[in-house]
Amino acid sequence: MAGTFITFEGPDGAGKTSVLTALMPELAPHLAQAVRLTREPGGAAISEQIRQVILDPQNGAMDARTEALLYAASRRQHLAEVIQPALARGEVVICDRFVDSSVAYQGAGRGIGEEAVLAMNQFATAGLTPALTLYLDVPSAVGLARIQAHRTGQYDRLDQEQLAFHERVRAAYLRLAQAHPDRIVTIDATQSMTTVVAACLAQLHRFFGSTWQA
Ligand SMILES: Nc1ncnc2c1ncn2[C@@H]1O[C@H](COP(=O)(O)OP(=O)(O)O)[C@@H](O)[C@H]1O
Ligand SMILES: [Mg+2]
Repeated sequence: MAGTFITFEGPDGAGKTSVLTALMPELAPHLAQAVRLTREPGGAAISEQIRQVILDPQNGAMDARTEALLYAASRRQHLAEVIQPALARGEVVICDRFVDSSVAYQGAGRGIGEEAVLAMNQFATAGLTPALTLYLDVPSAVGLARIQAHRTGQYDRLDQEQLAFHERVRAAYLRLAQAHPDRIVTIDATQSMTTVVAACLAQLHRFFGSTWQA
């Protein structure tokens, strides 16, 4: 693959989507390559259809392994239709959540096993691993409070989970960061948005090194 694959991870309310929105216009001028921001389902119609099944509040009977398989299926299609073609064109692809989310949410949150979920996702992604992951870390209560304070629409099925679930998710993220220090950089996302965006930009500068354009 000619391009560079980067992911942003973190619990709900960590600020991934807000930070990426602010970061993109600041990042693009520093890179010679085109930069593509995506998130699952990434506009891939099949991925979107799968995701609707996962998030449908009427699907409360969904088995945890079914959920994990559907996430992996949705991810696979997004990868095949969006991520891989962009990487093949040499672009920098930045994805809001990827396999680490499934390891944390399905593996640890739902308790079906981090190793099993990782193995299943390695099949789905054919082993594509991000070159860099910026993990936005917040205590679960902070993330949940942010979501609740700013929420306008309906809660989906996953939002109905309790604090204990989110604490298992965060603990798994912290384990992943510890296990993969060369790939995953932890950012303290309790700081102000401006500070978090600057910290992410600094990590990207470090990562791109001499190809970073002043
Ligand atoms: N550093 C921050 N400080 C305070 N509030 C924040 C911060 N980052 C994000 N938020 C707010 O928290 C909420 C969730 O942010 P969002 O970007 O949707 O998080 P995520 O995509 O990680 O779930 C938004 O309303 C956002 O404005
Ligand atoms: Mg988000």
